[in-house]
Amino acid sequence: MKPLLIAIDGPAASGKGTLAKRLAAHFKLPHLDSGLLYRAVAWAAAHTSRTPEEAAAALEAADLDNPALRTDEAGQAASKVAAIPQVRANLLKFQKEFAHQASGAVLDGRDIGTVICPDAPVKIFVTASLEARVERRYQELRERGADTIKPRVLAEMAERDRRDSERAASPLKAAPDAYHLDTSDMDADAAFAAALAFISSKGFRSSGP
Ligand code: CDP
Ligand code: CDP
Repeated sequence: MKPLLIAIDGPAASGKGTLAKRLAAHFKLPHLDSGLLYRAVAWAAAHTSRTPEEAAAALEAADLDNPALRTDEAGQAASKVAAIPQVRANLLKFQKEFAHQASGAVLDGRDIGTVICPDAPVKIFVTASLEARVERRYQELRERGADTIKPRVLAEMAERDRRDSERAASPLKAAPDAYHLDTSDMDADAAFAAALAFISSKGFRSSGP
């Protein structure tokens, strides 16, 4: 049987990262949150003398550990550098190598099923209504102590959705053979259960208990 390679894509706060982490733990697979790469490139371009293209070419795994990459501002900055074709091209090799290691892997992002691993046997496109996603992101920000208001979260998320879907270079788009998982009315457990059912319908089962 081929290694289990799971490609997960979707917009901000759809729940793709949470799902990817849980699937990786369940199947004992390495996980790459590809959004972190774009966040790290934007951070390096703002804090060093490198251009975004140079930062992408020089990126190392250790650069992804920076806690400053987790903020909403970093997400907005990431979506700007992510529209530069040469930045995407310079991040391709790292992601393809991660995806095609012998153990299998889980990757989540915007173009995993369409560009990074169109050959993945399991592709999941996670969505949720804008209202549900704004509510989730707002709750997360409040829990982290951020001082924000819902209309601002909504405006920023709508802008990022638009930028990610309308750009020419690898826009956010479902692969033709992706399983669509709308999590608007699902908690993380229900989304995990639905994804597992889909993966087992493809003939993959976890080996451990
Ligand atoms: O990675 P992405 O931006 O798509 O979303 P996330 O960080 O995985 O999830 C955003 C928030 O939604 C987290 O607080 C999750 O606990 C929550 N959530 C979820 O992940 N899945 C659901 N089906 C419902 C809520
Ligand atoms: O967790 P959230 O969805 O808020 O953001 P993220 O996954 O960390 O992605 C941040 C930004 O990086 C996105 O808005 C995209 O513009 C970009 N990105 C991308 O273009 N391609 C990917 N495979 C992953 C992220």
